[in-house]
Amino acid sequence: MPKSSAYDAKVPDARGVIHYSDEENEVWRDLYAKQLPNVQAHSAPEYLVGLDKVGLPENRVPQCCEVSEVLRGLTGWRVTPVPCLIGFGKFFGMLAQREFPAASFIRSRRDFDYIQEPDIFHEIFGHTPLLTDPRIARFSRAIGQAGQRAEARDYAWLIRLYWFTIEFGLTKSGGVIKALGSGLASSPGELPYAVSSDVAERRPFDVLDILRTPYRIDIHQPIYFVLEDIDTLFQAAERDLLADVREAQSLGQFAPTYRLKKIA
Ligand SMILES: [Fe+2]
Repeated sequence: MPKSSAYDAKVPDARGVIHYSDEENEVWRDLYAKQLPNVQAHSAPEYLVGLDKVGLPENRVPQCCEVSEVLRGLTGWRVTPVPCLIGFGKFFGMLAQREFPAASFIRSRRDFDYIQEPDIFHEIFGHTPLLTDPRIARFSRAIGQAGQRAEARDYAWLIRLYWFTIEFGLTKSGGVIKALGSGLASSPGELPYAVSSDVAERRPFDVLDILRTPYRIDIHQPIYFVLEDIDTLFQAAERDLLADVREAQSLGQFAPTYRLKKIA
């Protein structure tokens, strides 16, 4: 997702290595230890298989270059540290190039359980397992490619497709609803809520419905979209997503089910 942050980006050295302090590495260690049993309980098998494939270190912040090495051999993607703030145009352009933009800072202890903006734990622990799956990787790239053809007025519509799948999507697995999205995998609080809350609404995956559904970034999602399976996502990648955006625009946005604030 496009980035905006109160944190400062960490800049790689000449060898492409980002230096993290002992305290920062300990935050990673503790986040990893806290979330591993959560994702094992609530996340989709595709995420868990991916997590196994990327083989993240438990005790230190991984380097984007070492994760890229794994992804390159599996789906051709790479992870690139970016400044905390990038726009939609750059974001979509990078996805189209199979380049995942990653915020490089890690949250402080103050934000341990909840951080609104993406940090390196979200980017690596949440996103990169999904990018090991060729179907999810293809869908991510398709959104980027649609974004490259889009105009600025389309961005806020198109990004909803990314939000409700790659970030906060659910999927069925053996008849059980599991979490797919990276925003869920990296969130200790929202992960169990997303799959089991009686308050949250779960709608079947539908590209046009998603494109018409506004969201807020600063609350647990009131609406999730549920894939029948991951192949459905792969099939969606073959659609003309920009044509879908235009159709969604002509049909109009659904009324929000939350109180109005920070609509994306
Ligand atoms: Fe994200």
